[in-house]
Amino acid sequence: MKSVNEFLEAKLRKKNISMVTCYDFWSAKILSKTDIDAVLVGDSAAMVMHGFETTVNATIEMMEMHISAVSRGLKNKFLIGDMPFLAHRKGIRETMNSVDKLIKAGAQAVKIEGANGQIKIINHVVDSGIPVMGHLGLTPQSIHQFGGFKVQGKDEEVTHHLIDSANQLQDAGVFAVVLELVPAKVAETITNDLSIPTIGIGAGPKTSGQILVLQDLLGMDDNFTPKFLRKYMNGSKLITESINTYNKEVKAKKFPSSEESF
Ligand code: KIV
Repeated sequence: MKSVNEFLEAKLRKKNISMVTCYDFWSAKILSKTDIDAVLVGDSAAMVMHGFETTVNATIEMMEMHISAVSRGLKNKFLIGDMPFLAHRKGIRETMNSVDKLIKAGAQAVKIEGANGQIKIINHVVDSGIPVMGHLGLTPQSIHQFGGFKVQGKDEEVTHHLIDSANQLQDAGVFAVVLELVPAKVAETITNDLSIPTIGIGAGPKTSGQILVLQDLLGMDDNFTPKFLRKYMNGSKLITESINTYNKEVKAKKFPSSEESF
């Protein structure tokens, strides 16, 4: 996908959208060679790349740096940048300054978590010509309010609120909504209710697309095994084995060979 219009087209044609996160230049170069549709520089960078416990430690400077690195490596893929913790909760001027920074760093759209109390500001960003992706369900920036990484929408009241929020976001002009940790049935209802696509993570198979954190699908963390995750590679094992082989060959004076020397 090269443009935001293709998201709606995919939904109309019932063609599933595939997305992954990315935070750095060399991964972006590899993703450019894949068939993946679109890439998100998520604020999960704070956890995956910087080792923080939650995403509340992501800052606008951190996001700018990762978006700029990814945009230098990514070719012909739609690139979305995450608005970090509170960046869109400090009034219009500061929100627009943050959006400005992410777009100038190379994002073609921004993602904003939540809907409560921010429909107006999302609408203002959209009206300013910036495509916005919404994000509902378990919105990690509100982790302290949720009290942990728990499935959202298990009771009727929360489900109704989710459906209502999704519709409000659509009316505000977002081009797609991420649904995170939502029961499959609820995600299906929201997907059928909206004309824009939904992108699921831990939201079952009936959303208009899926997103996973790149390092999660590559199996980089042995200890991260949530129910929704399918690991397509055992990256942790492969990297450990490769580095141990290198170490062994260095110690055994087998690397470098004469062909690898000048
Ligand atoms: O920050 C992130 O990586 C995200 C995705 C998991 C949707 O928001």
